[in-house]
Order: sequence, then C-alpha cells, then structure tokens
Amino acid sequence: MIKLALLASGNGTNVQQIAEYFKDSEDVKVELVIVNKKDAYVRQRARNLGIDEVYYDRNSFYNTNIVLEMLEKRGIDYIVLAGFLWLIPNNLIKSYNNRIINIHPALLPKYGGKGMYGYNVHKAVIENKEKESGITIHYVNERYDEGQIIFQAKCYILPNDTADDLASKIHLLEKEYFPKVIESVVVSQ
Ligand code: GAR
Repeated sequence: MIKLALLASGNGTNVQQIAEYFKDSEDVKVELVIVNKKDAYVRQRARNLGIDEVYYDRNSFYNTNIVLEMLEKRGIDYIVLAGFLWLIPNNLIKSYNNRIINIHPALLPKYGGKGMYGYNVHKAVIENKEKESGITIHYVNERYDEGQIIFQAKCYILPNDTADDLASKIHLLEKEYFPKVIESVVVSQ
C-alpha cells in the first residue's frame, strides 16, 4: 500500500476529494492529514472522514525534525500539498526528493511565488484581464512553485467573470484532475 500524507492550511476541499477518491483503493491510502493552522476547517473534515489529523506550529516545521519523524513513523511514501501555504522545509525536501506534489491554482510559471495562493491568485488573474487560467500540479522543490510540472489543465475566463467565478472553475478542475494525477504519479513510480 502506498501511503500519502496530505498537508493543508485551510478549508480542505482538496483533502476531502482526495480522501474520497482513494477510500476503497487497494493501492493508495490517505494515512494522515498534517495541518499548520490550528483552527483550519480541514481538521474537522479529516475527523469526519476518519483520517488522523495532526497540527504543527511554525517552530516544529522549521526548527525541528518532528514532522519528518512523524512521516517516517507512519511509513509515508508521498507528501501531497492540498492547499498548504508555507514553503516546505529543507529536511522534508531532502528526505522526500521527487515525492512531494503540490497543486497551484494557476498556469505556472505565471501567478506563482510568495504570496500567490488561493484567492490572491484569482484576484490577480482577473485584474490582469487574462483570458484563461487553470491548475498546475508539480513536484515541490525548495522554492515556491518552481518544481517540475507534472500536469496542467486550463479553463476560460469570460469578460464578466469575477474572482469568485474563477475560483469555482478552478475548484472544478482540481476536483476532476488532482486525485487522478496523484494516482498516476504514485502508482507508476
Ligand atoms: C486550492 O485552490 C489550491 O489550489 C490552493 O489553495 C486552495 C485550497 O483550497 N493552493 C495554493 O494556492 C498553493 N499555492 P482547499 O483548502 O479547499 O483545498
């Protein structure tokens, strides 16, 4: 069984979709949800799904090996960032080289980098009157949004679309593709 740890910071719609997709899988299991915000709604979602969830603060992530030790103790094979908004610490990058996957709600390399996450991305895309946006699923390295791209999917933006409209389109793409792409990466490697 290939074991995933999902890292999340917020609402957790992606965590929910990934967990539901792999619920009956014989190959892949969502073993653990790791959260970096104490009051994130994703914690409740994980509990409702019957998945262990654990919270770590900034100090634990960046100045200790607690997170890495937990991942190793639970036999985690892949880390999936499902709306996780911090840079991944170097000890995790080293130990999970090419085994950390992120989803970004835009067509990288555009609209990536520090501060470009979630709704901020959609606002910037709409303000710049882009005609299309999309999702990028990529490996994670030590810099924000710069790891090797695995998959992209596009959506069109209509002239009157708001950032909320775009967010809805992006969530549909995430739902449709993220779990399948994770599966194809972890099962094929
Ligand atoms: C998702 O749209 C994801 O692509 C984005 O945060 C949202 C989390 O939603 N990730 C980033 O912006 C990473 N830079 P969720 O908590 O409902 O899954």
